[in-house]
Amino acid sequence: MAELLKGKEVREKILAQVEKDVQRAKKTQGVVPGLKVLLVGDDPASEVYVRNKARACERIGFHSEIEHLPSSVSQEKVLQQIDDCNQDDSIHGLLVQLPLPDHINEDRIIQSIHPLKDVDGFHPENVGRLCIGTPRFVPCTALGIIEILKYHDIEIEGKDVVILGRSNLVGKPLLNLLIQKRPYANATVTLCHSRTRNLAEKCRQADILVAAIGKPEFVDGSMVKEDSVIIDVGINRVEDSSREKGYRLVGDVKFADIEEKVQAITPVPGGVGPMTIASLMMNTWQAFKLQTGLE
Ligand code: GUN
Repeated sequence: MAELLKGKEVREKILAQVEKDVQRAKKTQGVVPGLKVLLVGDDPASEVYVRNKARACERIGFHSEIEHLPSSVSQEKVLQQIDDCNQDDSIHGLLVQLPLPDHINEDRIIQSIHPLKDVDGFHPENVGRLCIGTPRFVPCTALGIIEILKYHDIEIEGKDVVILGRSNLVGKPLLNLLIQKRPYANATVTLCHSRTRNLAEKCRQADILVAAIGKPEFVDGSMVKEDSVIIDVGINRVEDSSREKGYRLVGDVKFADIEEKVQAITPVPGGVGPMTIASLMMNTWQAFKLQTGLE
C-alpha cells in the first residue's frame, strides 16, 4: 500500500510558522503583510480558489482584499487596478487569478505587476531569476511540490523526475527548481508534453512522476514504475450525478489503478492542492520582508 503524501499537515506546519512571524512583526513593528487578489469573471473553480486564499490570509493575520471584476471589464481597467496596487504601500503581494477572459492579454497583465509584489512568480523578471538559479518568488504549485517531498523525506537529489505538462504555472517552474544545484534539487528532469514520443515508456523511467496536464485519470498503472513516487497536480471536475454538487474531483492519475504499485502518492483532493495556499502565504511574507526591510 502506498504512503499517502497528504498536503494538509504540511500546509498547517507552514501556516503556523508564517502566523508566528506575522504576529511578531505586528507586535514589534505594528505592520502586517497585505495580499490583494484580482478576480475577473465568474469561473466557479477560480471563485473557490480565491475564497480559500482570503481565508488563509485571515487565519494567519494578513490583511487581504479581493477585487471581483466582471468578465466584460476592459483590459485598461484591469491594468489601472494593478497600477493602483503597485503604488499601495499596504499591499505587498498582488495576484491576478488565471485564467482571464479571452479579450484580456495574460502576458500584458502579468508584466504590469511590480516584480517585488509578484507573489505568483509569473513576472518575466522572477521567471528569469529562477532560471539562472537566484529565485525570488517561486510559482506556488511548484514550490508546494518541493515542500511536500521535503516534509515526507523523499529524496530528490540524483533522481530521475518526469514531469507531464509544460505550463508556465507548474511544469516549467518545477523543471527549473528541480535542476538547480542545491539541496532538494539536483534531479535529472524530463519534461513531457503533447508531442512527446513514447510517453508511457518515459513515465516508466521516473523515480518521481509529476502529472500536471489537466486530463482526468490520464496516468494509469501501465505508465508507472514499481516503487516510484507519484505527484498528482490535477484537479479535474468530472460529472457524477450521485454527488450533491453533480461532480467529483479527480486527479490526472488513476489513483485506484496505481496505489498498490507505487511507494507514495499524493491524493486528490488533499495532496498538492493545500500546498499552493501555503506557498502563497510564504511568498507574501517574503514580499513583505523585501518591501519593508523587516525580518
Ligand atoms: N489559476 C490556477 N492556479 C493559479 C495560480 O497559482 N495563480 C494564479 N494567479 N492563477 C491560478
